[in-house]
Amino acid sequence: MTTLIQNGTVLNADSTTRADVLIDGETILAVAANIPAANHQVIDATNLLVMPGGIDVHTHLDMPFGGTVSADDYFTGTRAAAVGGTTTVIDFALQARGHTMREALEIWRAKAAGKACIDYSLHMAVTDLGPNNQNLAELDQMVAEGIPSFKLFMAYPSVLMIDDGLMFKVMERAAALDALCLIHAENGSVIDIVVSEFLARGETAPHFHALSRSPLAEAEATHRAIAIAEMAGASVYIVHLSNADALLALHHARQKGLRALAETCPQYLVLSLEDQMPGRSWDEAKYVFTPPLREKKNQAPLWQALASGELSVVSTDHCPFRFSDQKSLGKEDFSKIPNGGPGIENRLQILWHYGVNSGILTPQQFVALASAEPARIFGMPTKGAIAPGKDADILLWDPAADYTITAATQSMATDYNMFEGWQVRGNAKHVFSRGLQVVADAKFIGNPNHGRFLKRQANAGGFA
Ligand code: URP
Ligand code: ZN
Ligand code: ZN
Repeated sequence: MTTLIQNGTVLNADSTTRADVLIDGETILAVAANIPAANHQVIDATNLLVMPGGIDVHTHLDMPFGGTVSADDYFTGTRAAAVGGTTTVIDFALQARGHTMREALEIWRAKAAGKACIDYSLHMAVTDLGPNNQNLAELDQMVAEGIPSFKLFMAYPSVLMIDDGLMFKVMERAAALDALCLIHAENGSVIDIVVSEFLARGETAPHFHALSRSPLAEAEATHRAIAIAEMAGASVYIVHLSNADALLALHHARQKGLRALAETCPQYLVLSLEDQMPGRSWDEAKYVFTPPLREKKNQAPLWQALASGELSVVSTDHCPFRFSDQKSLGKEDFSKIPNGGPGIENRLQILWHYGVNSGILTPQQFVALASAEPARIFGMPTKGAIAPGKDADILLWDPAADYTITAATQSMATDYNMFEGWQVRGNAKHVFSRGLQVVADAKFIGNPNHGRFLKRQANAGGFA
């Protein structure tokens, strides 16, 4: 089937043009002015921006964590992503200690089977290389399977945290494979001691989650991870960078010409310790995620780094837990509140409204941060642009649509929204995933058998 998107403005990371877009099956066939309607199904894009579908490179769907499982499975999670204008997610497969990466891969592929409404890929979170690192060759196998990115946790001791030696070992191998190492950068050992000190003093409320995780613990780990990557010759990508101190560590590395990249997330750009977690209520458990909310003064430097290109990507770190029966696991002890927040549906609304409408970002920079750079850095050459030959992952964005964010109408499975009641201008109107329309007039019309596992190319984060 052929579909013609007519009368829109095609917005790529490097161009803005008035053009029509012709889709043939799963692929973009042509981008040109005045393509005749012929026998094509026609979508009118008057006053709409026609841009590549969003790519969210950091999600946790159906993930066991904090004594429970994240609330969105691959169906509800990818449905919410699509409604928000995202057409590809990269989720995390977690290797359990004492088990192989292969087992983790099979578990996560099974979670996605028959449930993904849009394309998905996986990063492998490496926690164990076996006795004498004998399973190192599994990294090669993962790359061969289309998983050229490894996540290493410097936080969550006794669950996911690895030591610096293992990090170095993985990075050395990753360098040889042109794979990218993703780092959760926080000094988990120090944080655990601070957490126990708060609890010993009876300071058990959600607010103390934030206070127990200093920005310096993140900055120190960011610097350490980048230094170890430099020693190993690897490319490194810092996930969910949340504060100005950590940004400085990234800045110094990039000034030196190191292969260091980083993302931030909407929550760090628009939510703050002062506004959402002042220390007054249990309700603040909704904002218990890691790294935690920071003081407001960190927001401007993060926005500035997005505008300058120092930060390359905005992802969500979508890790949703219901307030009623999941966050409540930590009612008496903040360290037992499952860490994570829902955001997969609202990423583009927040980035557009607070980034583009406020004049900090240009529309082209929006596309770069939300789609083009994720595609480039994570080795997805068929995604991230509106051009002939690319997958027809297309977002028709209405920059004039007024929308009120609320859990009452959201597609995510949580019983709350971090941006409840916020009014934004700019929203996804129609969304195509590999040629299939999955959102029409902001309503989901896709299906859970459509999304495919996407094998990615190893390209050292675009530095290869
Ligand atoms: O709080 C968070 N971010 N939960 C998900 C796991 C992680 O650290 O990314
Ligand atoms: Zn993390
Ligand atoms: Zn995460």
